[in-house]
Amino acid sequence: MTQGGDWQQDLLRELANGSPDSAPPPSRPDASDAIPGAPVRTGAAADAEPGAESLPAAPLVPRPSHDPRVAAAPESVPTVDPRLAIALGRPQHGDSVARRTSRSLRKLTASAGGDVAEQTRLAQEVQQPVSTGRVIAVTSIRGGVGKSTVSALLGRTFNHYRHDPVLALEADTALGTLPVRMGAESVRWSCGDLARILTPAMQLTDVTGYLVPVADGGWLLPAGQGRVGAPLDVRTYRTVTLALRRYFAVTVVDCESLPGEVARTAMDTAHARVVVAPMTAEGVNGTRQVLDWLAQLPHSALATTVVALSAASPDTTLDAKTAAAHLREPGVPVVLLPYDPHLAQGGPIHTAMLGQATRTAAVRLAAEAMRHAVRMR
Ligand SMILES: Nc1ncnc2c1ncn2[C@@H]1O[C@H](COP(=O)(O)OP(=O)(O)O)[C@@H](O)[C@H]1O
Ligand SMILES: [Mg+2]
Repeated sequence: MTQGGDWQQDLLRELANGSPDSAPPPSRPDASDAIPGAPVRTGAAADAEPGAESLPAAPLVPRPSHDPRVAAAPESVPTVDPRLAIALGRPQHGDSVARRTSRSLRKLTASAGGDVAEQTRLAQEVQQPVSTGRVIAVTSIRGGVGKSTVSALLGRTFNHYRHDPVLALEADTALGTLPVRMGAESVRWSCGDLARILTPAMQLTDVTGYLVPVADGGWLLPAGQGRVGAPLDVRTYRTVTLALRRYFAVTVVDCESLPGEVARTAMDTAHARVVVAPMTAEGVNGTRQVLDWLAQLPHSALATTVVALSAASPDTTLDAKTAAAHLREPGVPVVLLPYDPHLAQGGPIHTAMLGQATRTAAVRLAAEAMRHAVRMR
């Protein structure tokens, strides 16, 4: 471990001493002065509260009910209307049965030495220690090209390989889909709420009480509660990302499309950027213009940018090699995200159902983003 070791060890120790399952602590009936749904310490810390003077003082969540800035705890809202959720259908596999079978056979018969070496190298890049929290912003030139899908894949990949806290943050002022893609069944606290609540005295266990725990590990902070209105503004975005960077080794931000103001701020202030390009001539062309804009930003923005070239349709005819070469010209790495039937069907992403090529692309993208993010001070 580098100099980042202590910082991460402290966080992990704190996490281990806090709620054991990382889930937001349920409201306790005896916490009568806490507003419903506000995080309340559980376990050892909670039991210690009555006789607190004899124990080391653990900073508690400032009770939002005492804070004039916070009127009431938001209601928990389902991410998908239950009447629709039952119509989701069974998750499809990203690879066909034939492909899955031949892969299993190959694994049994051939030595996959080269593959293993490459995977180990990528895993090491994803696992790089960090001295301060890194923010990776994901955006694109328009909606529907795969920002939330890529953000969810990155969040899951970082979480799978890293042992320090990872956050997926939704900063989409439109009705975003990150909570659904991350498998969250309901959302409550949003970026706007946390911007009012977060204080420097809070510990990681206090903060995670306001976040949605992701099934595979890690946390999620939605932009809102899936209603039209109350857009996220630049000030809220800056407040929340700056405050949360203290607690999370990696924050993946699912931004709105460019040239939205929040997206531009996120791109400008992140440690690394991922621009998702759709696999169409106009999509690649527009993304190239974004790259040229990034080249003009200070802080060598282009030097810390990665492109995810996403084939979100099985009907793309654009030659992937030519498209990638066009995007690589300004000097950015391009990772091809193949068409994956599991991703195409929408709904929660199940890592085990992804095609092998998609999984490899996700790790490659995470490795590239991390390699760039650690470079920035
Ligand atoms: N690699 C992919 N393979 C197949 N379908 C994809 C892929 N990436 C995205 N999609 C499809 O595109 C839709 C929109 O993606 P999404 O991530 O929500 O876009 P955005 O966040 O940019 O609006 C997804 O619901 C999914 O159906
Ligand atoms: Mg989205």
